[in-house]
Amino acid sequence: MNNFSAFSRVVCISGGSSGIGAELVAQFLAAGDQVYTCGRNSEKLAQLAARWKKPYADGQLITQVGDVTDADFRAHFIATIAEQAGRLDVLVNNAGVILASGDLNESVTDWRMTLETNLIAPFALIQASIELLEQSSAPVVINLSSACAQQPFITCTSTSYSVSKAGLDMLTQRLARALGERGIRVNGVAPGVVHSEMWNGAQALMTETVTRRHILKQQIVMTKDVANAVLFLASSQAQLITGVTLNVDAGYTLG
Ligand SMILES: NC(=O)c1ccc[n+]([C@@H]2O[C@H](COP(=O)([O-])OP(=O)(O)OC[C@H]3O[C@@H](n4cnc5c(N)ncnc54)[C@H](OP(=O)(O)O)[C@@H]3O)[C@@H](O)[C@H]2O)c1
Repeated sequence: MNNFSAFSRVVCISGGSSGIGAELVAQFLAAGDQVYTCGRNSEKLAQLAARWKKPYADGQLITQVGDVTDADFRAHFIATIAEQAGRLDVLVNNAGVILASGDLNESVTDWRMTLETNLIAPFALIQASIELLEQSSAPVVINLSSACAQQPFITCTSTSYSVSKAGLDMLTQRLARALGERGIRVNGVAPGVVHSEMWNGAQALMTETVTRRHILKQQIVMTKDVANAVLFLASSQAQLITGVTLNVDAGYTLG
């Protein structure tokens, strides 16, 4: 085990190479934490590592190329944290995908991969991390959900995505209950529309959704708004908060 005692917390963020994940990496690094993150695209991860190489100490940001739907990768990723840090304080299940849109015309292959990425991988990462989380004095898991988990809003165009996130919200509650007696908090954050690669350039749809659903100032949610909520839930200020999914959606879910 390396001696990284200079860092405040050990944080694992899946999918830290773009969007909300990249902002989470930035904010946890700025808080003095050691951050482990992963993604499938090696170039994107290398850019992330290069961006933060200078201002931070060696070993503060550790990136691994891999797919969270791959059981071998997950085992390797968590084993690296165990070997190097010996504990895990914060696990953020952030990696997520929308692969299709529609109700009955989405392929079963897209459904499977959406559920594998957005629901099964978060469960498996939590399961694999329990022993490490138990080594922490204030362990917490945060799952990135979505406003689309809560109602069949017409603006949520992918059924498989909405269902995967609805499942994730129940996973948050179930595991908050199951892990509470071990002192592990489990919470979620459900953003509205956030400008990120996930929208894949669907600018018109994004703008229309913000106009129709974001009743608060018709303002798009920024990655930093979401990261602020995650950092709050990860902090001691939220020490008695567990089993909740916090909406950061400018009123999207109000109907
Ligand atoms: N953007 C929104 O409007 C919005 C709204 C509500 C909720 N969310 C949720 O917020 C989270 C982050 O979304 P985002 O908007 O920041 O998306 P994004 O910009 O597309 O980023 C997704 C990140 O996850 C990684 N990733 C995706 N699949 C992966 C896999 N199988 N294994 C490992 N890494 C994987 C991506 O890297 P690679 O592609 O290189 O793997 C990337 O780093 C997601 O869970 C999403 O559902 C987003």
